[in-house]
Amino acid sequence: MAQLLEKILNQKLSAIFEKNDLDVKFAVVKNSDRPDLSDFQCNGALALAKPLHKNPREIATLIASELEKDADIAKISVDGPGFINISLKNEFIAQELNAMSEDERFGCDKTNEPKKIVMDFGGPNVAKALHVGHLRSAVIGESIRRIEKFYGNEVISDVHFGDWGTPMGMILAEIINQDGNLDKVQTYDIEAISAFYKKANIRCKEDEAAKETARQITAALQDGNPEYRRAWKHLREVSVNAVKKNYDALEAHFDLWLGESDAHEASSEIVKLAKEKGLAELDDGALIVRLEEGNKPKPPVILIKSDGGFGYQITDVATIKMRYDDLKADEIIYVVDKRQSLHFEQVFEVAEKLGIAPNVKFLHIGFGTVNGADGKPFKTRDGGVMNLEDLIEMSKDKVRESMPKPEDTDGYDAAYIEKLVSEIAIGAIKFQDLKNTISAGYVFELEDFAKFDGKTGPYIQYAIARINSILRKAKEKGIALGDIVISNNEERDLALKLAQLNNVILRAEADKEPSIISDYAYTLAQTFSSFYNASPIMGEADVTLASGRLKLAKLTRDILTLLLYLLGIKAPEVMLKA
Ligand code: ARG
Repeated sequence: MAQLLEKILNQKLSAIFEKNDLDVKFAVVKNSDRPDLSDFQCNGALALAKPLHKNPREIATLIASELEKDADIAKISVDGPGFINISLKNEFIAQELNAMSEDERFGCDKTNEPKKIVMDFGGPNVAKALHVGHLRSAVIGESIRRIEKFYGNEVISDVHFGDWGTPMGMILAEIINQDGNLDKVQTYDIEAISAFYKKANIRCKEDEAAKETARQITAALQDGNPEYRRAWKHLREVSVNAVKKNYDALEAHFDLWLGESDAHEASSEIVKLAKEKGLAELDDGALIVRLEEGNKPKPPVILIKSDGGFGYQITDVATIKMRYDDLKADEIIYVVDKRQSLHFEQVFEVAEKLGIAPNVKFLHIGFGTVNGADGKPFKTRDGGVMNLEDLIEMSKDKVRESMPKPEDTDGYDAAYIEKLVSEIAIGAIKFQDLKNTISAGYVFELEDFAKFDGKTGPYIQYAIARINSILRKAKEKGIALGDIVISNNEERDLALKLAQLNNVILRAEADKEPSIISDYAYTLAQTFSSFYNASPIMGEADVTLASGRLKLAKLTRDILTLLLYLLGIKAPEVMLKA
C-alpha cells in the first residue's frame, strides 16, 4: 500500500525518538503552519520539555540533527521556542505520489477492526411526502454512510419509517368518516392519502370526539384488528413507494425499510423488562421510566401512553433492542434534527438502564435547519412546508437556465442535458448542505448555489470534467501517462495537497463531519487550477514533464471523484454550459 508522506515522516521521527529515549507519542508531524517555511512541522519537543525539565530548543535541535541525515529530507530547522520545521525532497514526494496513484485506495487507511454500524437517517412518515426537513437527514446520512463504508466498517442503513403512531388512526378515521367504511382504501394513491391526512389533522385539532375516535382506532390497529391492519398495510405500501422515489432522486440508500410498526412486539418486551427491573412506574395512567438521577435530570420516558398505545419513545427503545439482537450492531448512529436531542438522550439512557444493548455506542448527530432568507426554517412562498420534490424541481429549473440547447453542443442530445441538469442540481443541493458543519443551520439559496466558480458542487464537477477533457486531448496528441516528477512549485503544492487525502478522510470519519471533505475537495480543485495554469501539458516540449503532469492531473481527477462520491455526488464525464 502506498504510504502518505505524513505517516512516513512520523515513522522516521519515531525511530529517532526511540533511540533517544523520548516518548514516541510526540513523534508526530502536522502540516506546517508556515507553508512558506516548511512542508511539515513537529512540535513534540515543546511537549517533552516540561516533564524532562529541559529546554525545548535543545531537544528539538537533537532531533533535527538526526533527521537531517535522512536522504528524503531537503531542509530542516529549529524555530521559535522549539518547533521543528521539515521540508521534503521533491524526488521523495514524487515517489510517494507515484505509489499513491498506483494504489486503488490512494494510500488511504482501512480500519483493522471493522464495526457494524446501524445508521438511522430517514424517518419519513406515512401519508407525507418528503419535505425540506428530510433533506439534511438524507444528505448527511448518506455521506456518512459512504465514508464509514470506505473506511471499512459494515454499515446497515434503516429508514425507520414513521408508520405506527396516532396519525395512522387519524387517517383511517378520516377515510371511514368520508366513505362510511374502508372498502375503497386499496384504490387510494399517495395524493389521496395525503389529502385524508391533512383533513384529519384539521378535524382532530377542532374536534375532541374525532380525536378520541382516532385514538381508539390507533389502539385497535396496534392490537391487531384485521380490517384496520389490512387498510393500514396499503397506506404504508403506497407511502413507502412514494418516498422511495424521493430517496432515489437524492441517491440516499437504505438497506432496510423497517418502520416503527416493526418494533411493536419488542415494545411489549421492553415493558416486561422495565417492570421486572422495577424501573416502570404508573404516572397519571401512563407507564413511565423516570430519569431523575444524575446532575442533569431529564423528563421521564413514556413506555405506554395513558390511552394504552405505544408512542415514539418506547418505539425507539425497542428498535435499539432489535438492532442489537437481530442485527448485532456495535454502534447505532442517528442523523436527526438536533431539536430531537433530548428525545435521544432519554432513549439512550433508558436503553442503558435496561441493559438491552450492552457495549453498543449510541450517537445522535443533530443537524441544524435549512432556512429561508429570513433565517427561519425554509417555507414555500405562501408559508407552507416546502416539498422536497418541489425543491429539487426549483433547483433543476435554475440549473437548466445555464445549459445550452442540444443544437449548440457537440452532439449532446436533450436526454444527456437533462441528465446533466439533474446531476448538477442534486450535486449543488448536496454540496450546499455538506459545506456547512452539521450542527449549524444554513440558508438555502438558489442564486449562487450552482455557480461554476464558487464553493459549490458544480465547481468540483466542472474541475473533474475539465481534467477529463485534458486527458482526452492528451490522448489525441499521443501524450502518455508517465511517472510524476516535481519540477516547479505548483506541481509541488498540488502533490502535497493530494498527499493530505488520507488524513482528511480519517478526520471526516472520526468527527462524522462531511464538511471536512467538501472543504478539502474545494481547495484541491483550486490548487489544481493554479497548477494547470503554471504547468502546461499539451504545450510542454519536455515529454517527461508533460507525461508526469498528466499523471498528476489524472490522480487529481480520481481523487476529486472519490471525494464527490463520499459526499454522495455524481461526477459527470462532460459538463456543458450555455
Ligand atoms: N419520523 C420522525 C419524525 O418525523 C423522525 C424519526 C427519526 N428517527 C428515529 N429513530 N427516531 O419526527
